[in-house]
Amino acid sequence: MYAQLVKSEAAKTYDEMTPQERAFQERIDRGEKIEPKDWMPDAYRKTLIRQIGQHAHSEIVGQLPEGNWITRAPTLERKQILLAKVQDEAGHGLYLYSAAETLGISRDELLDMLHSGRMKYSSIFNYPTLTWADIGAVGWLVDGAAIMNQVPLQRTSYGPYSRAMVRICKEESFHQRQGYDIMMKMAFGTPDQKAMAQDALNRFWYPSLMMFGPSDKDSVHSAQSMQWKIKINTNDELRQKFVDQTVPQAKYLGLTIPDEQLRWNAEKGGYDFSEPDWSEFYAVIAGNGPCNGERMAARVTAWEEGAWFRDGLMAYAEKSAQRPSAAA
Ligand code: 3HC
Repeated sequence: MYAQLVKSEAAKTYDEMTPQERAFQERIDRGEKIEPKDWMPDAYRKTLIRQIGQHAHSEIVGQLPEGNWITRAPTLERKQILLAKVQDEAGHGLYLYSAAETLGISRDELLDMLHSGRMKYSSIFNYPTLTWADIGAVGWLVDGAAIMNQVPLQRTSYGPYSRAMVRICKEESFHQRQGYDIMMKMAFGTPDQKAMAQDALNRFWYPSLMMFGPSDKDSVHSAQSMQWKIKINTNDELRQKFVDQTVPQAKYLGLTIPDEQLRWNAEKGGYDFSEPDWSEFYAVIAGNGPCNGERMAARVTAWEEGAWFRDGLMAYAEKSAQRPSAAA
């Protein structure tokens, strides 16, 4: 369960490539975008379907922990902002499913793979949002980590994915700021509010670090994905950048990162920090996180309850196509 059975082969050297593969790699090396009708190696196509599909699933599953707080947002303004954000995530899912469809897989197939546990979504969405401060932490840390990963993906080699990322990144940066704004309100509020903000940071810190994927030495796909410029940075590079960016933000809030090993390392020009508990990460992506069952049950229910609407749209499209004016 929760494995897509796409194994990345070791990246080939130029000498090992066929002439067609070499020409393809040269296009990538020159920084050209690959478009849907261009020739591409089968493994490039499969890797993109895996990554873009997982990314799309993450956007729509990511609506669930925040949607949980729409009815309980503390003010009308916060409710409006949260509603807009949760709607944005649905839009991101749509752009990404559309990008994946250009690779020859349908949205129905992708969703079937999600619902049957044959495709993953981001580990982070298997953690609960217990308090309003968690919504701040999700925006600040989870969207912050997402942007750190997604800004370089604007330069990814596959045209439709790259173009989807440009639009998504603009919206994600608003999401990150709204989360930080909630954290400022809480951290500079009453002692109880500050304690809630600290508690949210304590619970979301390591799961946010896990979003970048396993350490480089355990990342099975990075070498090939970077050769094809599907990924632009390694998992550890992005995790380091995220820590370096986030520590001063926590300091400004007067909050403490829950890591006793956290130290500025002048030599490397970045922070030293503790690795997340990778056994927890692997348990979560194997389907055994705190909320995996709840998230999938909510998704499957939404899919089943939406069947009448999809059927209605199909029936309307068929009737429209049969009208004499359409035939003419
Ligand atoms: N959650 C779930 N699975 C993860 C994971 C995570 N945080 N990190 C890694 N994995 C999985 C990989 O998918 C792979 O499993 P698979 O072979 O079954 O697909 C396995 O762990 C090994 O990891 P690798 O490092 O070898 O995998 P990748 O090279 O694919 O790197 C990645 C993982 C960095 C997440 C990369 O796929 C990526 O950059 N994806 C695009 C970004 C993305 O999906 N973001 C989702 C974040 S949430 C979001 O965007 C919503 C926003 O609104 C907050």
